[in-house]
Amino acid sequence: MKETKRDQLIDILAQCDEGFISGQELSRKLEISRTAVWKHINELKKDGYQFEAVPKKGYRLLSHPLAVNETTLKWDLQTKWLGQKLVFKDEVDSTQDIAHQLAREGAENGTTIIANKQLKGRGRLNRKWVSHHDDGIWMSMIIRPEMAPYHASQMTLFTATSLVDTIRKFADLPIKIKWPNDLFMDGKKFCGILTEMQAELDHIEYMIIGIGLNVNQEINLFPEEIQNKTTSLAAQTQYKWDRIRLIQQLLADFETNYQEFQACGFSYVKDKWTSNAYKLGERVYIKMPKKSFEATIEGITDDGALLVNTADNIVEKIYSAEIHW
Ligand code: BTN
Repeated sequence: MKETKRDQLIDILAQCDEGFISGQELSRKLEISRTAVWKHINELKKDGYQFEAVPKKGYRLLSHPLAVNETTLKWDLQTKWLGQKLVFKDEVDSTQDIAHQLAREGAENGTTIIANKQLKGRGRLNRKWVSHHDDGIWMSMIIRPEMAPYHASQMTLFTATSLVDTIRKFADLPIKIKWPNDLFMDGKKFCGILTEMQAELDHIEYMIIGIGLNVNQEINLFPEEIQNKTTSLAAQTQYKWDRIRLIQQLLADFETNYQEFQACGFSYVKDKWTSNAYKLGERVYIKMPKKSFEATIEGITDDGALLVNTADNIVEKIYSAEIHW
């Protein structure tokens, strides 16, 4: 997509190391008149950008508005590789689909797709993921891990722990991770992770890690049938969250934690996961395609399976199931 003069202006202001940049310099860099620069600055002010203007020094960008777009997301993004290639769309069917397409075309490790709204957001087991409003975080990251395919489920558990780290930096909330891919608060789901991959027997070509995080939704935005089991960060805290800062922090934490995970192995994730696990040591109902039974959650194994203790005191490893209570 072609960058407009307005986008270029925001980029220059955001990257200006000295802080201030003169109207004359902006006009030279953008190849437009000083009047045109002034008009763009006024337009940006109307859109919520804040500037300091000092005679003889020029303009300094103080803050950007809360509108999420590629420029506001990339401004001050503190990552080396994750999200540095960023595709932002206002409306898509699903960020997962775009990510798959880009990954097949060779998109580099860390490429991230973020949308304001999804018309066909999807979750695990091909369930619908409600994301047609622009008050959540809907994103898919392309990761090309050095990892055997049978360890792929570790990435979902890793992502969940990294998300908990990020959200806790903003508010001390009672977040719990429900195996394998959900974040819960007060018994209600507010975040889901969808990990998909393209792999050979011994090699992962790419993984798409999709994150759906309910941020600023009012509960009545959700379909009636899920309103009593769904929540959002804002519904829990009673204030609206800055989605830009949250996305930037999420990407930065994922990148740092991922490095740690690669260096230390799964034990780094396992401990964090266990200390935030939902219903650990409690009796739950395990529903699998061929059998369903009651069991107590004991923890997770190194390959990301759920470890449960059945009524007959047999310890079982669960790789795919739904957990109810
Ligand atoms: C689940 O809880 O089953 C996982 C939900 C994952 C939803 C996210 S939103 C961004 C990405 N695009 C999708 O269509 N799904 C994932």
